[in-house]
Amino acid sequence: MAIAISPISGDSGYQQANCVSIADHRLWKEKTLNLVGPSLHQVETLLDTTLGSSKGAFDEVLKYVSQLSGKRLRPMLTLLSALAIDGEVNEETVRQAAVVELVHTATLVHDDMLDQADCRRHFPTVHRRWDSTTAILCGDWLFTRAYGLASQGESTIPGRWVSDAACRLCEGELLQNQYVGNWRLTESDYIEVLKGKTGSLCGVSCRLGAWSVSAAPAMIEALEAFGLDLGIAFQLHDDWLDYWGESEATGKPDHSDLMASKPTLPLIYLFDQLQENEVDRIEEILSWDRSKRIPAVHEYLERVNAELYIRRTAVRYAERAKLHLSALPSSAARDALGSLADLSVSRFS
Ligand code: IPE
Ligand code: IPE
Ligand code: MG
Ligand code: MG
Repeated sequence: MAIAISPISGDSGYQQANCVSIADHRLWKEKTLNLVGPSLHQVETLLDTTLGSSKGAFDEVLKYVSQLSGKRLRPMLTLLSALAIDGEVNEETVRQAAVVELVHTATLVHDDMLDQADCRRHFPTVHRRWDSTTAILCGDWLFTRAYGLASQGESTIPGRWVSDAACRLCEGELLQNQYVGNWRLTESDYIEVLKGKTGSLCGVSCRLGAWSVSAAPAMIEALEAFGLDLGIAFQLHDDWLDYWGESEATGKPDHSDLMASKPTLPLIYLFDQLQENEVDRIEEILSWDRSKRIPAVHEYLERVNAELYIRRTAVRYAERAKLHLSALPSSAARDALGSLADLSVSRFS
């Protein structure tokens, strides 16, 4: 069944999603853990086994990586997608949930090197704790293990889908790199980057979950479309956190996008709002050192009300993601997916 998806316009839903409180987060976690808890535990066990399967050289670094676990968004998408279709998960669902987390972990190890980030999940990044060689090889090891695991079932489908999604992700990261310093980037060019670098893996996480329980093609498509839009919303919010979040909460450096001259939505929007005669001034500010650049840019962002615009844009994508869920029968898992979209744009970490 084709679903009519509203264009991204207007700001309905912003107030609603902006009001998700910490208490709501806790309630959601409790409710969702009741649903996915046992299968998430199986995913964790499989991740531990997989990360413990190196032949010596990587032992220490993989132990480090596995101890610093993140929010587990992608495996949750896989598990909840299966549950929303079938009411239960199976061995294939658990395997593919571990696969998407391994791919995600590999991309983070490499991304931190590309971004020269010092910390991730509150601890030094792999290339800082060890060195670049270790980070490159560790990322390669994780990618390779992920594809091996994806192909352990009877079908070759997961391996091909995961590989397609990871290719889109790499293309998104490369495109972003090509756009560094390009302040004239349009919002739609930027959304294309997000589709690749974050949307693709969230989309395939849902797709694999639905496929693992033999969902009808239309359901698989609906869940993938949900994951893709949720991924865009999640990344827009991540870009908001980079400017307005707290490093103590995110566990990542703040203002890393600004300092690396990455044109994310805050600056794209700012340049779009500037008068022609102000462009030279802001370009000059963007060459200043950190202690002067950050407050000066924030002054401009405040003037054009950029924060509100970014958050509204993220919420609009989260709202659009939820529309895809109407193709599914109602269930607690479907509701949890909807809440996950809301949380993606109201989180602090
Ligand atoms: C970080 O992803 C990279 C982005 C796509 C923004 P997460 O925020 O899901 O990272 P962890 O796994 O929870 O640390
Ligand atoms: C990278 O985006 C997302 C990936 C595909 C790894 P960011 O560079 O914004 O992610 P963070 O902020 O380092 O987590
Ligand atoms: Mg990064
Ligand atoms: Mg970021």
